[in-house]
Amino acid sequence: MNILVTGANGQLGNEMRIVSKESQDKYIFTDVVEVEGQETTILDITNLDAIRKMVKENDVKVIVNCAAYTNVDAAESNEALAEKLNAEAPKNLAIAIKENNGLLVHISTDYVFGGDPYNTPCKEDQKGTPTGVYGLTKLHGEQGVIATNCNYVILRTAWLYSEFGKNFVKTMLNLTATKPQLKVVFDQVGTPTYALDLANAISVIVDDYKQEIANFNQWASYTNNGIYHYSNEGVCSWYDFTKMIAEIAGNTNCDIQPCHSDEFPSPVKRPAFSVLDKTKVKDTFGIKVPYWTDSLRNCMSNMK
Ligand SMILES: NC(=O)c1ccc[n+]([C@@H]2O[C@H](COP(=O)([O-])OP(=O)(O)OC[C@H]3O[C@@H](n4cnc5c(N)ncnc54)[C@H](OP(=O)(O)O)[C@@H]3O)[C@@H](O)[C@H]2O)c1
Repeated sequence: MNILVTGANGQLGNEMRIVSKESQDKYIFTDVVEVEGQETTILDITNLDAIRKMVKENDVKVIVNCAAYTNVDAAESNEALAEKLNAEAPKNLAIAIKENNGLLVHISTDYVFGGDPYNTPCKEDQKGTPTGVYGLTKLHGEQGVIATNCNYVILRTAWLYSEFGKNFVKTMLNLTATKPQLKVVFDQVGTPTYALDLANAISVIVDDYKQEIANFNQWASYTNNGIYHYSNEGVCSWYDFTKMIAEIAGNTNCDIQPCHSDEFPSPVKRPAFSVLDKTKVKDTFGIKVPYWTDSLRNCMSNMK
């Protein structure tokens, strides 16, 4: 089966490259620029004609959309671009994959939640209440995908980190190694996600789809079309996350203290509680989700 990955130079895209090495399927890794040492085909997902061409020419049966406008703060002053990348582009992918009767695996975010005050894990059918442009445009992306009637799996994830690109783990590794004191917010609670674990979960979902189209009429709708939540297991604040990063790294000289979000002025209000309930993805696909500290140790070991 031919599988197209968009945003292949990002955190999740790079983990998809690693996971694909275990697969018999043919993967096409695409992004807007080439990176030295990586095989990348140029594909701008805002260009519907280019997507259609690539899907048809390569008989692509699954698209894994790892591309997005992910800068949460900058999105506040770049709404048009964020909407184009996070809402219009996923719809383009959905249209093209529907025309070739395949599956779109689209990645969304816990930032579709947060406007309402809740303190129990968010379920898939809970109403989206984004607090900023990023979350709102990602919610529009989900709605656009579903509206095309294509086969889709929307995976909402949260607090993504990996050994690739810029992320919270790398920032805190550096700060806790170099600063004598550090304040980190404890009033935003969620669950970190190692992008490699998410990539492995995507691979399980792709295999499930592959099995279904091998066994049944491939023109029928995929049985497991829907929205799912995937993060690592457990709950923590950014403060707890930082304490654990420092502990694993052995950065014991930094005094890390909890603080409130209003001590760090930001253009966007972030969700105070965006823990995702993962029951559905575990029950449907038999996915086993690692605990967040185990995955953090794993990632930090892979960083070496
Ligand atoms: N990061 C998080 O904490 C987090 C949390 C929850 C959900 N998510 C979601 O998870 C997914 C993966 O996130 P990530 O952190 O891996 O993202 P990322 O590292 O920012 O990677 C996104 C990739 O998409 C590329 N891209 C930008 N514009 C494009 C276009 N027009 N066409 C094709 N590719 C384009 C980017 O290239 P450039 O870098 O050159 O622009 C980058 O390589 C996204 O859907 C994101 O919304 C992320």
